[in-house]
Amino acid sequence: MSIRISLAPFQGITSRDYRNAWARHFPGLDCVYTPFVSGVHPEKLNPVKFRDMVPMEDNVIETVPQLLSNDPVEIMAASKFLRGEGYTHINWNMGCPFSRLANKKRGCGILPYKDEIREMLDRIMPEIPLQLSIKTRLGYKSNEELPGLIHIFNQYPIHELIIHPRIGTQLYSGDVNLDGFENVLKESKIPVAYNGDIFHAGRYRQLQKRFPGINSWMIGRGALINPFLASQMKGIELSEREKRTRVKDFYNELLQVTPRRMSNPVRQLGFLKAIWYYMSGLFVDGMQYFDKIKVCRNMEEFYPAAEILLSQPFAGEHEIEEHFRFKLKHL
Ligand SMILES: Cc1cc2nc3c(=O)[nH]c(=O)nc-3n(C[C@H](O)[C@H](O)[C@H](O)COP(=O)(O)O)c2cc1C
Repeated sequence: MSIRISLAPFQGITSRDYRNAWARHFPGLDCVYTPFVSGVHPEKLNPVKFRDMVPMEDNVIETVPQLLSNDPVEIMAASKFLRGEGYTHINWNMGCPFSRLANKKRGCGILPYKDEIREMLDRIMPEIPLQLSIKTRLGYKSNEELPGLIHIFNQYPIHELIIHPRIGTQLYSGDVNLDGFENVLKESKIPVAYNGDIFHAGRYRQLQKRFPGINSWMIGRGALINPFLASQMKGIELSEREKRTRVKDFYNELLQVTPRRMSNPVRQLGFLKAIWYYMSGLFVDGMQYFDKIKVCRNMEEFYPAAEILLSQPFAGEHEIEEHFRFKLKHL
């Protein structure tokens, strides 16, 4: 069975520049999701909101725009606009855990409200001119929310349900709840994709053994740390030298394109630091070298600090797992 691997969206990191550079230099990914767009004004769509995804021709890999909203009118207006731009699939974010949004019944904050979800789907599904997938969690405050909703989702032609098996109040820490995932999987009539804590190919193989029916996998932080994760999951092995060249080319492309999108040097530096925060884990003792990057005040300080990190030996699976589990702060 051939698997499909997508890159998870990260607000502030996986911008189009990042996604494109990624797809050009690292093999194995089938598609990418954009970070969410929200606050779309239905009567007066502001094209600036969509500049990360329009024009569609500028994407170098299949890209799925993501929307975060609890207003059917907004979702319908945005989908019509995106259909007009050539997209055939959008993703609805029902997973974002941040209380500022979730407390307003947005992101995973909508999950406790079954009737409202049903009403929204009743309005949206007959009207939207493209495929709709949903990215979600097991719940906002309880693991029982998604299991209580799945029979509602089952009644609609939803393209795919991407499930991150945590609840919102956990944010991104604590264990993923694989039993909870399995229960929803058993009940779902909608194709399910798995997302959560795939930190290396070994972990993926364990998950694949447990869920042999899943062929759609979304990778997030594990891929931000190790951009060869998708290829390793597919059994594509690259030589050490080739990997080093690809990482350098990826980094050089980002250095080139970032100033075109961000004119403010402070923002540029912040963006590059966010990338290295994760990707430092690709190298032995990466977080130690990242600590030197973190304190750089400008690009002149940043370049040599990043070069030192880049010249370190690659970390193995065990060390990557440590970086993922213990060195990153999961919000
Ligand atoms: C900084 C940050 C930003 C994120 N932004 C988004 C987003 O815009 N849309 C979304 O659906 N998920 C977002 N996520 C969640 C990730 O896409 C992903 O679901 C999560 O990291 C779990 O997958 P992982 O364990 O493979 O990293 C974000 C997570 C983090 C840490």
